[in-house]
Amino acid sequence: MSTVLEHHRAACDALLERALASRSSDSELAKAIHYALLAPGKRLRPALVRLTNQCLGGDLADADAPAAAIEMIHAFSLVHDDLPALDNDDLRRGRPTLHRHTDEATAILAGDAMPMLAMALLAEAPRGSKMCAVLSEATLRMIEGQMMDMAAEREELPVHKDALQKLQAGKTGALMVAAVQLGALSANASKEQTHTLSIWASHTGELFQLTDDLLDATASTETMGKRTGKDAEKFKLTGVRVYGLDGLRDRIQKRCQDALEALKPLGSAADDLRKLTDEMASRRH
Ligand code: IPE
Ligand code: IPE
Ligand code: MG
Ligand code: MG
Ligand code: MG
Repeated sequence: MSTVLEHHRAACDALLERALASRSSDSELAKAIHYALLAPGKRLRPALVRLTNQCLGGDLADADAPAAAIEMIHAFSLVHDDLPALDNDDLRRGRPTLHRHTDEATAILAGDAMPMLAMALLAEAPRGSKMCAVLSEATLRMIEGQMMDMAAEREELPVHKDALQKLQAGKTGALMVAAVQLGALSANASKEQTHTLSIWASHTGELFQLTDDLLDATASTETMGKRTGKDAEKFKLTGVRVYGLDGLRDRIQKRCQDALEALKPLGSAADDLRKLTDEMASRRH
């Protein structure tokens, strides 16, 4: 786990606990949501909201709602990604996937509920209507990316870098870009600042998913807390398939350089984002 992420993790967990605390916690639905949302993930997207806010000199309290909201969208995407109709996985964040822990219907419904919780939270936030627009558009792009991922599994997409880039910009990049845009909104940033950070996030989103692909092929299930080796089994369209292992490592390094280059206009205020970029490109889990 990277140190920049570690620094924000406890605060992110506290935000998520708080966001759920205002609702009833004893229903089966509430328990399922808690199980999926509070499971030990990296909290990358909420950390990005906070880091962006800090980079732009915002009031960190204004990042609370969007940070919790984007992790809710991410958790929903993971719950549905793991369902038998999609990736059919049994292990997530070192624990049984939600549909294994409960049942498929509960996992579908808990997944359905989380985006609604996210939007309800944002509706109360300063600049909340803009935040709702950003997050709902990004969620739609993520879902389009997931549709492409499933089409690729049916061999309906070319095994080509352009198709891969589009697929990954959707399924993973869209929420990363939304995270910095929400952080920028929370700090009332200028259009130029938001644009700069969005370029950085799109490079970082690509390198993050390419690293996920690399680790699926090279890391152990125990280290990752999710089953590895499954992308090749399912003929997924991944960085490994398009570039090969060595080519993929080069591509990740290139995207890392592009991401660092994008941060130049922000000067030393972006140092934590620089550190995070390096940590994401060299992560082992
Ligand atoms: C997993 O995301 C899905 C991808 C987009 C690769 P993370 O690797 O951020 O998962 P958690 O939140 O740490 O479990
Ligand atoms: C998941 O991509 C992306 C989303 C959940 C939107 P993967 O299917 O590669 O993620 P893992 O490997 O299951 O975490
Ligand atoms: Mg998937
Ligand atoms: Mg998956
Ligand atoms: Mg993966």
